[in-house]
Amino acid sequence: MLPVVVLISGNGSNLQAIIEAIQNQALSIEIRAVISSNPLASGLQHAQKAGILTQVLDHKTFANRPAFDVTLQRVIDSFDPKLVVLAGFMRVLGTGFVSHYEGRTLNIHPSLLPAFTGLNTHQRALDARVTEHGASVHFVTSELDGGPVIIHGRVPTLSNDSAKTLAQRVLTVEHRIYPLAIHWFAEDRLQLTQGKVIFDGMPLTNPVNYKHEHHAQLYTPR
Ligand code: GRF
Repeated sequence: MLPVVVLISGNGSNLQAIIEAIQNQALSIEIRAVISSNPLASGLQHAQKAGILTQVLDHKTFANRPAFDVTLQRVIDSFDPKLVVLAGFMRVLGTGFVSHYEGRTLNIHPSLLPAFTGLNTHQRALDARVTEHGASVHFVTSELDGGPVIIHGRVPTLSNDSAKTLAQRVLTVEHRIYPLAIHWFAEDRLQLTQGKVIFDGMPLTNPVNYKHEHHAQLYTPR
């Protein structure tokens, strides 16, 4: 089973979706640890309930970002993961850290990248009056929210949406695409090669668009 470390900072609903996929035997990975940059992250409880080891590395107790990154890397390496999953991890990671785990770090971002990198994506999507919004799972590279995208989960925007209602709709699709992308990685179907996503041995020219059949695939052992 693929050894994984998950990094969180907040609610951990994506972590919970990943844990449920494991419990439903849809995802064959071993989460060796959940590390939070925030001691108050409620997501820590999801891990504890599932019997997963947790560790807090409070970024506020570090003098600067490099000091935090070095310790984080040391702690992650002590679990010897083959994949690092950022699930609502709210710290920007330095280039040394990113290159150490390049090709084996995934992130989920709440927009259809390359649109709306950074924060407040839902409000910005509404302000831009886009008709479609969503989430992206991507490989992490040194460009913030700029790594190559594996899969897009799309949702419509509605005329009466607030940032909150839109965020909720996007989260629902996040909970589907993240376990799926991790499943593909665990099955050795995904690689990052020369800055490009290779999926089933072929360069991915456009991100996969999530469809319902993909979810069914998650529940069908290959
Ligand atoms: C999600 O919207 C994710 O896309 C972003 O941070 C949020 C985390 O939510 N990176 P949760 O902690 O998984 O509930």
